[in-house]
Amino acid sequence: MRSILAPAAVVAQLALCAAATPCKPASLNGTASAWLKAYPGSARKDVDVVVVGGGSAGSNAAIHLYDAGLDILLIEAKPQLGGMVDSYTNPETGNVFDFGVATYTNLTGTEAYFERLGLSTKIPTFATTVPYYADFTTGETVAFEAPDLVPEFAALAAYYEIAKNYSELFMPSYANWPAPDEIPEDLLLPFGEFAAKYELNDTMLLLWAGIGAGLADMLSIPTIFMMQTFGPQTAGVFLGNTVQFVPESGRNQDIYDSVTSILGDAVMVNSKVTKSVRLPDNGGAALLVQDQVTGSYTVVTAKRLVIAFEPTSDNTAPFGLDAQETAVFNKGTWSIVHTGIVSHPSLPDEALIYNLPPTAVNGNDFAFPEPPFVDFFQYMGDDLYQVIVVGWEGFSIDDAQTMAQEALQNLASSGTINATDGVDLTIKSWSNHGPMDMRTSREELEGGFIQDLYALQGHRSTYWTGAAFSSQLSTYLWYYNLEYLVPLVVDSL
Ligand SMILES: Cc1cc2nc3c(=O)[nH]c(=O)nc-3n(C[C@H](O)[C@H](O)[C@H](O)COP(=O)(O)OP(=O)(O)OC[C@H]3O[C@@H](n4cnc5c(N)ncnc54)[C@H](O)[C@@H]3O)c2cc1C
Ligand SMILES: *[C@@H]1O[C@H](CO)[C@@H](O)[C@H](O)[C@H]1NC(C)=O
Ligand SMILES: *[C@@H]1O[C@H](CO)[C@@H](O)[C@H](O)[C@H]1NC(C)=O
Ligand SMILES: *[C@@H]1O[C@H](CO)[C@@H](O)[C@H](O)[C@H]1NC(C)=O
Ligand SMILES: *[C@@H]1O[C@H](CO)[C@@H](O)[C@H](O)[C@H]1NC(C)=O
Ligand SMILES: *[C@@H]1O[C@H](CO)[C@@H](O)[C@H](O)[C@H]1NC(C)=O
Repeated sequence: MRSILAPAAVVAQLALCAAATPCKPASLNGTASAWLKAYPGSARKDVDVVVVGGGSAGSNAAIHLYDAGLDILLIEAKPQLGGMVDSYTNPETGNVFDFGVATYTNLTGTEAYFERLGLSTKIPTFATTVPYYADFTTGETVAFEAPDLVPEFAALAAYYEIAKNYSELFMPSYANWPAPDEIPEDLLLPFGEFAAKYELNDTMLLLWAGIGAGLADMLSIPTIFMMQTFGPQTAGVFLGNTVQFVPESGRNQDIYDSVTSILGDAVMVNSKVTKSVRLPDNGGAALLVQDQVTGSYTVVTAKRLVIAFEPTSDNTAPFGLDAQETAVFNKGTWSIVHTGIVSHPSLPDEALIYNLPPTAVNGNDFAFPEPPFVDFFQYMGDDLYQVIVVGWEGFSIDDAQTMAQEALQNLASSGTINATDGVDLTIKSWSNHGPMDMRTSREELEGGFIQDLYALQGHRSTYWTGAAFSSQLSTYLWYYNLEYLVPLVVDSL
């Protein structure tokens, strides 16, 4: 009986002190001792900094903190580090295809990080493709007039120049973000209006297809969130102004395998935080962590907590957000992006089939599908195609795969591609990247959203990294960690 009753009693007691009500702060050691008693057989780890979330931002922050000589722990829910990296090895050819993160732009710290991981790099090459345009809801071909390369790149260069001009306001962090009434109007405009203002027409499909589509409603979000996901550096890569890298092996997962081997015992995968106590005034944090495979618990205490996952209500549930934290994150909305590697004999050789609505004709560059939608089927090599499917929060793997299957059958039944005879796509690998591209409204930005977001740094011994606090691209996140987050945490100790 004791083992059943004790945890409830302990939790009730801790909840009192974890809440924002006046109460003597729990002692971390007291909390840890109580959990150890309530969960017999638990391990215990006391560290300087615990990082939760082992994707791009969390893994990089952990390396920096480790190199600063701190005792650290990196906790990841999935079986391996890497987050949105998905490296698929074709068992038939041994060729590797990255169908999540494809490439790394070069920013301050990028080369040094690859070097620290012991990885030499190369400039990636991608399969050449032949474009097709079709409405995936009917399968009908759309007579979209693709821009010529010269005007397409001229429009992209215009975007690059403007985004670069504003970049110090949001890169590498929002530390220089202007006061609410001084935010440049350009950054508040719905991106569709911004793009019309600067006549970006000829580069809209380029901005959309690879990256902007992940926002789900690219044309209506405030422009700052477009610049956050399609940054100036990314435009620079297309324009040939700057290099991009992948590991020499052409397998992006190597980055995270290397982090895993450097950090050794400091990495806990398959691990979920189930309870937490976070103290004010940098008093530290205690986490109860459960191994999802063995069911066993580890009690962790740390002087500082770094959270490196998207702050959705599901993800943050075990962290008992207070009113200040909830008030900020409740204003965020997220899109969901799925990516898969598929094959099908009816998909034309070397095709890149874009999904556009029937209105994307007669020079209309501003017509994109309504979410949820399949973004494209893109040839990758070895008869394999990448498919990207985008929706809103709650858009499941089943929903996304069904939509991809229907798109293929629609394309075939309308004669845009060869008949399928009812045969479905073969799904070789699939990844739900979950919520991404946190954004809010113009009104919230003008109400001080970014200021309120950044005021959470250090609140309740907790520091935040990841796309919601910086940018949606790996190397921008590494730059943010290097220049902003890691010094902030280190100096607080
Ligand atoms: C299809 C696609 C292609 C992309 N291509 C590129 C590209 O070419 N170049 C580029 O730079 N960027 C690219 N990106 C974007 C980039 O991958 C992301 O912006 C970046 O990975 C975000 O990093 P993050 O650390 O914030 O989040 P993530 O990488 O998502 O990491 C979060 C981690 O936290 C873990 N986690 C979540 N909740 C918990 C929890 N409660 N407890 C423990 N762990 C938890 C997750 O499992 C995950 O591993 C691409 C994104 C997509 C969707
Ligand atoms: C934490 O508690 C344990 C057992 O209750 C005790 O041995 C240890 O000294 C305490 N540590 C600190 C830092 O108070
Ligand atoms: C990468 O960027 C850094 C910093 O901006 C720069 O010093 C370096 O020369 C760049 N590397 C290449 C290969 O362009
Ligand atoms: C960038 O800023 C400079 C200096 O403020 C300005 O002269 C220039 O016109 C801006 N360029 C663009 C493309 O906005
Ligand atoms: C660019 O697109 C906008 C918005 O659809 C349109 O009003 C404008 O005429 C277009 N410009 C050109 C040069 O086609
Ligand atoms: C479509 O069918 C034709 C006629 O059978 C064939 O020649 C062509 O290769 C097929 N295309 C694809 C992509 O399978």
